[in-house]
Amino acid sequence: MSGWLAIAGLGPGSDALVTPEVTAALAEATDIVGYIPYVARVAPRPGLTLHASDNRVELDRAAHALALAAAGRRVVVVSSGDPGVFAMASAVFEAVEAGPEAWRDLDIRVLPGITAMLAAAARAGAPLGHDFCAINLSDNLKPWALVEKRLRLSVEADFAMAFYNPRSQARPEGFARALTLLQSLCADARPVIFARAVTTPEETIRVVPLPEARPEMADMRTMVIVGSSLTRIIPRAAAPIVYTPRSAPE
Ligand SMILES: C[S@@+](CC[C@H](N)C(=O)[O-])C[C@H]1O[C@@H](n2cnc3c(N)ncnc32)[C@H](O)[C@@H]1O
Repeated sequence: MSGWLAIAGLGPGSDALVTPEVTAALAEATDIVGYIPYVARVAPRPGLTLHASDNRVELDRAAHALALAAAGRRVVVVSSGDPGVFAMASAVFEAVEAGPEAWRDLDIRVLPGITAMLAAAARAGAPLGHDFCAINLSDNLKPWALVEKRLRLSVEADFAMAFYNPRSQARPEGFARALTLLQSLCADARPVIFARAVTTPEETIRVVPLPEARPEMADMRTMVIVGSSLTRIIPRAAAPIVYTPRSAPE
């Protein structure tokens, strides 16, 4: 029997946001591989083996999944959101490139999911309606100086910015530094969205002007979206609508 490997995104949390394509792959799988909380989102059933591992072992996990597929198993590597956004798809391809030649001939598919950035933006309105960038604020896999450089250039280019991994418990100081930098670079009161645990029962959405944004408003379950200089707020009795107009002036 020929095995295959699907690298699938489970979306931001709600079952309603798992794509039918991903649901079908999970139904055909013999093995699920991934970080403990993501594997826990897959219902156990007879004939399905769950391989949950710690977040720090991405490349080992990718190699394990590839070895299972090479042995004829039908393997789904699960990520939250989209698997190509700060997640397992790149780790699998790094393992393919470094691994045995035979892994290059495996049937490997990337099944997209709804990334947290898009789910968070939709909850607030349309803050990413004009040009924007996405930055992973964790300095686990890159130097902090590079994060700062990208923040500076994003402000200069007047992008709206979506921040993943804003504030880990182990290194909370990074987000404080990022906010201080943004507050010094942007003289305006552009909106900042703190969207936590979006599409889960714990969801909270908070919108504050940049000068009032504080590091403790974010944790590792939060997406932070900082508007561009053009991003607007429509106040209303319900939660405000945050949007960035489609056009930028000459
Ligand atoms: C390692 S990244 C993985 C991103 C994922 N692949 C995606 O496409 O959404 C984890 C970060 O995504 C964000 N995130 C994931 N799920 C979220 C949710 N339901 N609500 C808000 N942010 C979320 C948080 O910033 C978290 O620190």
